[in-house]
Amino acid sequence: MPSDIISPEISDYCDQHTHAEPALLRELSEETFAKASQPQMLCGHVEGRFLKLLVQLSGARRVLEIGMFTGYSALCMAEGLPDDGKLITCDIDEETSKIARRFFARSLHGSKITIKLQDALKTLRELEGEFDFVFIDADKENYGKYYEACFPKLRRGGLIVFDNSLWGGKVIDPAAGDPDTRAIVKINELLARDERVENVLLTVRDGMNLVRKM
Ligand SMILES: C[S@@+](CC[C@H](N)C(=O)[O-])C[C@H]1O[C@@H](n2cnc3c(N)ncnc32)[C@H](O)[C@@H]1O
Repeated sequence: MPSDIISPEISDYCDQHTHAEPALLRELSEETFAKASQPQMLCGHVEGRFLKLLVQLSGARRVLEIGMFTGYSALCMAEGLPDDGKLITCDIDEETSKIARRFFARSLHGSKITIKLQDALKTLRELEGEFDFVFIDADKENYGKYYEACFPKLRRGGLIVFDNSLWGGKVIDPAAGDPDTRAIVKINELLARDERVENVLLTVRDGMNLVRKM
């Protein structure tokens, strides 16, 4: 979803004044825009660098991603992991996963990544062990279910990051009653009053909700 939250000029300025996008990721972004039917789903340069920084700052060693697409955000987070760090990423789309696999094979960080190609809720039921960091960026209607399924698997002090939490500004549009908007509004309201966590909703790209488990 493209961001209408900040002006294109400010968005470009942030892009130009953020540490450069690695060449392989630029190539992945270009291929995604050339071949995928909804390329705007890719998180992009600024959010990608931010995800890498968050993984690094949090000292995460085990990361879970719900919604891989062509693998851009997975590669960014893998870059922030130590050499022995692990990232499990979930998707259901075989075609876009083929692109991801090709780029993971070319990346220095790709060997840290394991793909689970089936419904993410099924994968969440099967996964064992604790995670330090979770990035939720799949179908918006299931955001609430993903949250409750991930929560017990997140270590205390760990971070869950939701993407598209402002949904192009539709979260404050009283006329927007579609299921995706309603699901995002609902999870944003829940997170702000959930006493098991502390959160901050940021205007980065299309909105990122950072949620720390207490
Ligand atoms: C917004 S895209 C992810 C973008 C990616 N995180 C990035 O920034 O490059 C959402 C992805 O979620 C996947 N998805 C949708 N429903 C899913 C489900 N039930 N289980 C797993 N993945 C799902 C879609 O196939 C799509 O690739």
